[in-house]
Amino acid sequence: MSSKTNTGTPLIDMRDICISFGGVHAVDHVSVDLYPGEVVGLLGHNGAGKSTLIKILSGAYKMDSGEIYVNGERADIRSPRDARRYNIETIYQTLALADNLDAASNLFLGRELTSPLGLVDDDAMESEARKIMARLNPNFQKFKDPVSALSGGQRQSVAIARAVYFNAQILIMDEPTAALGPHETQMVSELITQLKAEGIGIFLISHDIHDVMELCDRASVMKNGKLVGTVDVADVTDDDLLSMIILGKQPGKAA
Ligand SMILES: Nc1ncnc2c1ncn2[C@@H]1O[C@H](COP(=O)(O)OP(=O)(O)OP(=O)(O)O)[C@@H](O)[C@H]1O
Ligand SMILES: [Mg+2]
Repeated sequence: MSSKTNTGTPLIDMRDICISFGGVHAVDHVSVDLYPGEVVGLLGHNGAGKSTLIKILSGAYKMDSGEIYVNGERADIRSPRDARRYNIETIYQTLALADNLDAASNLFLGRELTSPLGLVDDDAMESEARKIMARLNPNFQKFKDPVSALSGGQRQSVAIARAVYFNAQILIMDEPTAALGPHETQMVSELITQLKAEGIGIFLISHDIHDVMELCDRASVMKNGKLVGTVDVADVTDDDLLSMIILGKQPGKAA
């Protein structure tokens, strides 16, 4: 299923994943994978099973059956803490930021840097925050403001910087640009380009075909809990993706 350009060991290989809630097969024998420096879009209508699949990877749900491999090794992910141990980080839509604190304090929330005397070391945290932002989003300047004063894209940068600072290799982003205007969306796409260059792999859930065409290398489409197929984005048109989403039809194949 992997792209013609992907070789070697995938960062993530989810095989034959199943989970049901009551009688509903929310995810029904789905396999997806993700390579270093790659963005894989997860597409599908409301209720297709995208978030549920990704919650299995982030440790929020436990699958009924299937296997997950991280860097080629069988992984046992039963909690968000387990996922983190495998360097899998999730950027939730709510971003989980503390609004009244500045970027550096959010970067180190719950993991504050301290001086040799055990005091919170604000200068060290700001200096680290400046370093990682210079790498990920050089235009970011608002280090002194509470994050409530930041734009949606800037807030997104802080949440992503936090994940990357703590060694995320695999990022899961659920609708990162849904609430953003065009300029902000552009900022997030530049950020994603930078993450790719660093070899990080990203699962990107999106309803926006244009975002997927612009940002993703491959797209995996789900419908009614099943995988319709995975395609190289360069090989398909917007309409191909739409017909996969709506009709559950693979490009070039009869429905
Ligand atoms: N905790 C749960 N309990 C019961 N049913 C659930 C639960 N989580 C998901 N489902 C069901 O699983 C199916 C897939 O839902 P999921 O949220 O994964 O879809 P989605 O593709 O993320 O949709 P959306 O685009 O609306 O976010 C739906 O039928 C949903 O009602
Ligand atoms: Mg969802």
